[in-house]
Amino acid sequence: MADSKKNAKPLRSQAWFGLKDRDGFLHRSWMKNQGIPHDEFDGRPVIGICNTWSELTPCNSHFRELAEYVKKGVYEAGGLPLEFPVMSLGETNLRPTAMLFRNLASMDVEESIRGNPMDGVILLVGCDKTTPALLMGAASCNLPALAVSGGPMLNGRFRGKNIGSGTGVWQMSEEVRAGTMTQEEFTEAESCMNRSRGHCMTMGTASTMASMVESLGMGLPHNAAIPAVDARRQVLAHLAGRRIVDMVREDLTMDKILTRQAFENAIRTNAAIGGSTNAVVHLIALAKRIGVELSLEDWELGSNVPCLVNLQPSGEYLMEDFYYAGGLPAVLKQLGEQGLLHRDALTVNGKTIWDNVSSAPNYDEKVITTFAEPFKPKAGIAVLKGNLAPNGAVIKPSAATASLLKHRGRAVVFENVEELHAKVDDDSLDI
Ligand code: FES
Repeated sequence: MADSKKNAKPLRSQAWFGLKDRDGFLHRSWMKNQGIPHDEFDGRPVIGICNTWSELTPCNSHFRELAEYVKKGVYEAGGLPLEFPVMSLGETNLRPTAMLFRNLASMDVEESIRGNPMDGVILLVGCDKTTPALLMGAASCNLPALAVSGGPMLNGRFRGKNIGSGTGVWQMSEEVRAGTMTQEEFTEAESCMNRSRGHCMTMGTASTMASMVESLGMGLPHNAAIPAVDARRQVLAHLAGRRIVDMVREDLTMDKILTRQAFENAIRTNAAIGGSTNAVVHLIALAKRIGVELSLEDWELGSNVPCLVNLQPSGEYLMEDFYYAGGLPAVLKQLGEQGLLHRDALTVNGKTIWDNVSSAPNYDEKVITTFAEPFKPKAGIAVLKGNLAPNGAVIKPSAATASLLKHRGRAVVFENVEELHAKVDDDSLDI
């Protein structure tokens, strides 16, 4: 073995590459057609790089380059990196909806890991559903795993102002409908909104799930917010490559990180960042894969946590600003100081979450506000039950106007989305 470090237990990849017989020949010989020297099959950790790169998933279109940085780290630490593709789910193109395929993608991930010779895996995640799909699939295999998010795009800038991906589209399309924006301006804004590699730079689902990765302990510090095109994102991928090799040697499997404590940390973090309600369905599904009890009601744990982060769609700023202000560690530190973080929850770098964030600075209290003066008080996800949703529904009070929080009125029910689109602007609609 090239490295003197010992593995905590025999490596599963040796059940393929360690054989001396005909099967060993088959497994090694075909791999050698890629130029892999014989000694790389000597029992060093084999690291899968699970890649959701696709030109049809623009948020993940830089992942082939990112994977190269992971490989550098894996080689440096004495491992053998092997990159493999899985189904990529892009929000903007995939019909009828990427959510329909989350579980299918997770099955792809699970079987790709389970059926192949790897000892640990790096999960390259970005666009909304790719993060839960890869975490879920990997959790079912329970190897050492480390998620690397692709990072948010740079701030959208249109005519001197910041515009957020997603959020700005709805606002501007309404302006076109209202006649306060021209079609030409609307088209020009397309090029100004999403102007760099990366995923949506508001606190939408992608940024929320990247923050969940970090708060669950499944990613390295600052995984959530480093912009995709910032060289520090490449450094993070490089360091992740180094670290996963040691995780294999330590046998630091996912179940040691994804504990009930980790999920409670993530729920409170989601409240503090004003995160997406989609995190609810994704984290409950992930918990089930790893054998942790987590219910809809558990999200009430975040109900008394203020929203500290002033980011669109709840607020004003964007992920680039969030990173420069201190990123997620600055939020986690405050949660820890308030007794709202299980400080001893283990993370992928082998340290506790508190070790990672206890000295995190906050450089801009306009972006990351404080418990003393929070952006929005009591802003966690609220769980609602009633005759419209007998099994429960969720709402994100931080993104709702005050009039929505208490409302009494009749419901207008449409047969389907086509009827909604056809009738919603009809002045004679009985609303
Ligand atoms: Fe991919 Fe928003 S469309 S993250």
